[in-house]
Amino acid sequence: MKNSILTARSLSKSFAHNGEQVHILSGVDLDIYEGDFTVIMGASGSGKSTMLYALSGMDKATAGSVIYDGKNIVIMSEKELARLRYSDFGFIFQQMHLVSNLSLYENVVVSGYLNKKQSPAEVRERADALFKRIGIDHIKTHLPSQVSGGEQQRCAIARAVINQPKLLFADEPTGALNRKNTTEVLDLLTGLNQNGQSILMVTHDIRAAVRASRLLYLSDGNIIGELTLSPYEHSAEKSRETQVNAWLSSLEW
Ligand SMILES: Nc1ncnc2c1ncn2[C@@H]1O[C@H](COP(=O)(O)OP(=O)(O)O)[C@@H](O)[C@H]1O
Ligand SMILES: [Mg+2]
Repeated sequence: MKNSILTARSLSKSFAHNGEQVHILSGVDLDIYEGDFTVIMGASGSGKSTMLYALSGMDKATAGSVIYDGKNIVIMSEKELARLRYSDFGFIFQQMHLVSNLSLYENVVVSGYLNKKQSPAEVRERADALFKRIGIDHIKTHLPSQVSGGEQQRCAIARAVINQPKLLFADEPTGALNRKNTTEVLDLLTGLNQNGQSILMVTHDIRAAVRASRLLYLSDGNIIGELTLSPYEHSAEKSRETQVNAWLSSLEW
């Protein structure tokens, strides 16, 4: 039996548009489980980013609750939320948002120093290990502008996990990458998950979706489909793609 790490109940989000309320999330009930690589798929504009922001406290839901560690983040103060996001969550985005005048290594360790969960020496030790494991150790003194998009995203992932987050949130992390870089970034996320990192990713990229252990489908403001997958293996990628495509077809993807 898996532990639920995040529990959303009746989660709704609407935006005011030309004086009218547009409902993007309509009473979503959802549990995210520890150890899972959960992926939420959906068409462009279906509300995936909105969902990720509401679940991670980056944006406030309009109604409903999101329980994390016994607390409802929907009613937390900005200060409490900021502390929680910083201490327990990690974030990666389509755009890497690295600090342009800091080296790759500095981008990662500064995040660790600011967090204060680990001593500066511990931060550097963990950063060194991450850079080696991620394969960007040889370019760690480069500026973001001097490396490829895939290398920037791998650095952004190192920064997101330097403080050992309980849950890593990812919004279309492969959206700006070519095929080779996409594979590298997905391999890295798969490896982190195999080492126990809980991940919640939203994407409309099938290559990213096949990495999931649990796939959810968002449409018309709610989760309308779910697929549980066996542990990911490179050798079985083709049959996995077939399985995911069949599932998506059944949902009129
Ligand atoms: N801050 C906002 N204000 C108004 N409408 C928004 C805002 N953010 C998103 N939306 C709208 O909500 C819908 C879902 O957006 P989004 O969550 O970004 O979709 P996805 O990530 O699946 O492409 C879109 O129609 C978008 O225009
Ligand atoms: Mg989006």
